[in-house]
Amino acid sequence: MTKSLTIKQPDDWHLHLRDGDMLAAVLPDTAQHFGRAIIMPNLVPPVVSTADVLAYQKRIMAALPKGMNFTPLMTAYLTEATDAEDLAKGFQDGVITAVKLYPAGATTNSASGVRDVMAVQPVLEKMAEIGMPLLVHGEVTDSDIDIFDREAVFIDRVLDPLRQRLPQLKIVMEHITTSVAADYVQSGSENLGATITTHHLMINRNHILAGGIRPHYYCLPVAKREEHRLALRALATSGFSRVFLGTDSAPHPDRAKLMACGCAGIYTAPNTMSCLAHVFEEDGALDHLEAFTSINGPKFYGLPISDQTITLTKQDLPMAYPEMITAGDETVTVFDPGVDLFWRVDTLV
Ligand code: DOR
Ligand code: ZN
Repeated sequence: MTKSLTIKQPDDWHLHLRDGDMLAAVLPDTAQHFGRAIIMPNLVPPVVSTADVLAYQKRIMAALPKGMNFTPLMTAYLTEATDAEDLAKGFQDGVITAVKLYPAGATTNSASGVRDVMAVQPVLEKMAEIGMPLLVHGEVTDSDIDIFDREAVFIDRVLDPLRQRLPQLKIVMEHITTSVAADYVQSGSENLGATITTHHLMINRNHILAGGIRPHYYCLPVAKREEHRLALRALATSGFSRVFLGTDSAPHPDRAKLMACGCAGIYTAPNTMSCLAHVFEEDGALDHLEAFTSINGPKFYGLPISDQTITLTKQDLPMAYPEMITAGDETVTVFDPGVDLFWRVDTLV
């Protein structure tokens, strides 16, 4: 039985850090294990211009505790008023790594997102021309489409036509949740990738809804049926090169989760690597963990693989993760995977 595993330092290709007290509270949980992360721009107001990106990057670096090494890879939030030249300059200057497309109304702070994808066609053309990746929240928002079908319908109605119009555009399907998306990314070309979260490998919709409603398992895209979770697990643990970890760790104050209309988002940063080691071990795929967390992402983005390592060690006793963290006056509940976790993460200091 494998008791210890040393892998290249992981990166998180989809992360919410927020701002202010929340940023200060959550950043160390990511930076203790991850070397880099793609930082989501859905602040209020959103991070839309190169100037906004630079200012947010500065606030992140100012919140990083002394002695910790971490590189935020910044994204800009695509709107129908986005200035393509501004973002292109930000990309070419190395300030912006990618652009995020939220369909308007799809999720937290997406009101300024894109209503009609044709309205941003000139921006997407510019991005395709300069090799700037587009990160897609892949759900339609139509009220007549069942929430469990919104990812599959998005692929059919929006993503596939977009890829046919702009085959050279580099696209990441963010936080995929269905076998439809798992099949679609595998059938795609070299410039199509996908991220998978930790929680979508561990929970299905029963965890949210059976035996009482559990707001801390509610996120978007919402977890689907068990057959979809199994398809995601098969893909993540296969080592397939265009699929990589994007935790979508998305902290909300418990106050905002535990209400009649609670926010979407699961906070997984503290125990993500322990969870993933558990999942990959369970599926007999520990030898593919490094590809998923540390190799496939940088390769897709054309960035160097980390020259640091972390060591995962299986303990005899379960790890004791906190149930919650504090952020200013608020608490944030940490993801409960529903199983004991035995894998400890050690980083070099
Ligand atoms: O669950 C989610 N939370 N999904 C998203 O797409 C956004 C995120 C957030 O910002 O809270
Ligand atoms: Zn997200």
